[in-house]
Amino acid sequence: MYSMSDKSALEQLIDNDEFSNRLNLDRKTYGLVFDRRTLNAVYYLIKKYSIDYVDFPISSGKESLIFKVVGMNKKSYALKIYKMSTLKFSNTMDYIKGDYRFEKERINRTNLVYIWAQKEYTNLKDMKKSGIKVPIPYGYYKNALLISYIGTRTEPAKQIKNIETDFNALYEKIKTFMRKMYKDAHLVHADLSEYNILFYRNNPYIIDVGQSVSVKHPMALEFLRRDIKNINNFFSRKNVKCDDEYLFNYITGDVND
Ligand SMILES: Nc1ncnc2c1ncn2[C@@H]1O[C@H](COP(=O)(O)OP(=O)(O)OP(=O)(O)O)[C@@H](O)[C@H]1O
Ligand SMILES: [Mg+2]
Repeated sequence: MYSMSDKSALEQLIDNDEFSNRLNLDRKTYGLVFDRRTLNAVYYLIKKYSIDYVDFPISSGKESLIFKVVGMNKKSYALKIYKMSTLKFSNTMDYIKGDYRFEKERINRTNLVYIWAQKEYTNLKDMKKSGIKVPIPYGYYKNALLISYIGTRTEPAKQIKNIETDFNALYEKIKTFMRKMYKDAHLVHADLSEYNILFYRNNPYIIDVGQSVSVKHPMALEFLRRDIKNINNFFSRKNVKCDDEYLFNYITGDVND
């Protein structure tokens, strides 16, 4: 089914011992992630976006695998592959149910993970349009998502939890993004913390927005308060003056600044 010229990228993805070692994948996980449907999804994106090769693995989490891949045009991308079977069904449904954008979908265990990729793609688009720094979404297919890579040639950008910088200035930028997200993109991140913000060229980049919900979601304000708590906890530890109530009003209120 794959022609010779397609083989290099796919072969690297499947057969590269080095990456399976580096990712510490046991055989079980390996099998779970790269099932047939996943390979087909990856293959589709590799073809459509002229991906030349897989450079290195970026992250291996419970719910996704992320690789740096490079296009024929030498452009770098991040390829995020959602694991088919570990996405927690009932948990995940909370973020989809009540989101009017996905009401028409008939959701089951198989297509849930596809909706997740689509949801992250759409959320990234909306956030980017609102002027928030996020990875640019290029395309998705089934459980695979192609976005811009953030980092240098050899190293992905660090999470803000692992950097040294002027945290007061960083806090101001993140506050602005949180307000834009609510006011302009009409979204709540719903998993915002020092883990899901990268730092690149002196700017924060918001990532991991698959679970982000519309402000109309019945739990939106609850999620927003949790995001505020996480962010303020982190910045308080960096000696930034933070106040949950103030930030809530700053994000949702009518203040013009
Ligand atoms: N576009 C990107 N460019 C560079 N690195 C990225 C990019 N997207 C994600 N990463 C890295 O991969 C990690 C995991 O990504 P993400 O948070 O989107 O996935 P996840 O499934 O939630 O994983 P986890 O459960 O580890 O949070 C990030 O913390 C970040 O270090
Ligand atoms: Mg994450």
